[in-house]
Amino acid sequence: EIGIILLTLAAYLFGAIPFGLLVAKSRGVNIREHGSGNIGATNVFRVVGKGWGIFTFTLDALKGFIPAFFFSKIGELPFEWGVLFGMAAIIGHTFPVYLKFKGGKGVATSAGMLIGIAPVAVAVGFLFWVICLVLSRIVSLASIIAAIAVGITVWVEGEKPVAVKIALSILSLLVVWLHRANIKRLMNGTESRFGKKKEAKV
Ligand code: G3P
Repeated sequence: EIGIILLTLAAYLFGAIPFGLLVAKSRGVNIREHGSGNIGATNVFRVVGKGWGIFTFTLDALKGFIPAFFFSKIGELPFEWGVLFGMAAIIGHTFPVYLKFKGGKGVATSAGMLIGIAPVAVAVGFLFWVICLVLSRIVSLASIIAAIAVGITVWVEGEKPVAVKIALSILSLLVVWLHRANIKRLMNGTESRFGKKKEAKV
């Protein structure tokens, strides 16, 4: 159906808006040349400042939430379709047409989508994220653990169609895979940490 294709395309193009890059640019920073080089909220927080990072997280999360929550209503489709539109937005964020398909790691946009689709799973993921961040002060590690927790929770919680569970598990694997450079750094002990050790970088 043409309406579904158009909504999916609109979700992709909306998700592809690189808010982190734009927020940093508005502060005179080319975010891709600093910190981890990622366009996500974590790197904006790290390089540009706390408030700007939180602002970026909010905008990137809305890119997932709005398509997941509202697009199925616009198309008068059952709620499961929100997963498709949310996924399209996440693919937009991670592989944006405007940035030669080199985008972010999908954590904030996935969180926004999950708030619209699977609030219990996102709550579990958030809990793991906070605990892991407090213990390690490494955002990427917290994000990887949270993504895995979400991928498992969707199978044990609620009554979602199997297709939705499979889609959200694929999303969880995608987010882990997008962190592959972080995983390498975690394994050789060079991943950046927030907190007191940050200044120790030479
Ligand atoms: O959401 C991305 C985060 O998990 C890691 O970001 O900048 O440390 O690679 P970064």
